[in-house]
Amino acid sequence: MATSNSSDSSMSAEVPAPYGNGPAGPAATPSDTVRKPAARIRIHHLQQAKEKGEHFAMLTAYEQYTAEIFDEAGIEVLLVGDSASNNVFGNETSLPVTVDELLPLCRAVARSAKRALVVADLPFGSYEVSAQQAVATGVRFLKEGLAHAVKIEGGKFYADTVRAMVQAGIPVMAHIGFTPQSEHSLGGYRVQGRGDDAQRLIDDAVALADAGAFSVLMEMVPAATAAAVDAAISVPTVGIGAGNTTTGQVLVWQDMAGLRGGKMAKFVKQYADLRTSLGNAAKAYGEDVRTGQFPGPEHSF
Ligand code: KIV
Repeated sequence: MATSNSSDSSMSAEVPAPYGNGPAGPAATPSDTVRKPAARIRIHHLQQAKEKGEHFAMLTAYEQYTAEIFDEAGIEVLLVGDSASNNVFGNETSLPVTVDELLPLCRAVARSAKRALVVADLPFGSYEVSAQQAVATGVRFLKEGLAHAVKIEGGKFYADTVRAMVQAGIPVMAHIGFTPQSEHSLGGYRVQGRGDDAQRLIDDAVALADAGAFSVLMEMVPAATAAAVDAAISVPTVGIGAGNTTTGQVLVWQDMAGLRGGKMAKFVKQYADLRTSLGNAAKAYGEDVRTGQFPGPEHSF
């Protein structure tokens, strides 16, 4: 996202929009000697990005160090995804993870990120029963998880749920297209919104945005459908396997940084090979220990 110092007059108590890593706060002068921490990304900054045709980046994070690193790298949104289920807890899918398992991860990320907006996934089974259940779970993520917003999966059927959550003061990102929590009803990992099915996604997005969702995330949707969805709503969209017209892009960090092994989805671009680096480090350490080279005098008291 391009650096922007435009301030929002409706948020006059806030410092200028904090894109970029420069000093935040009103009019830093050459005599300023103390660099103030960057101001928090808020949902209205994401809205401004859409209005200006800019883009923002989102990555998953599940603990302290990656949250710090991604925050310092300028990633605007951190998602404490229910993908923790199959990227942290060792499950095969996102379905088994629970609210009580995700809350401590969320707290760690929120405590560690000084600038990023922290969005928490509501896990499978924690919001579907009723709007009241969704509000209650959302409150837990903001209160106990220290999240700034939550994400729920599902189409227009959840519009009333989103409305109730937003009225309760819980910012909601909606997740449509391929929704991993429904993988069994969707018949596996399948692209959604192809051909005539595109209108279904447009209708979902319009209903969810009208209900107050501050953003709509689309997963595994043809680029043309995602562009049509983006054009149909005024709130920012986020894509994962949804082309490049969305305002934001998100990836699971272990995919982006090459920590996870195995076959990657087509939409993943790997920016590092942490699995090899970490494996090599572990092998070198093991070898040093076995040969008595570690610890040497420089690491001994
Ligand atoms: O949990 C997650 O990581 C997600 C992304 C796939 C968007 O929901």
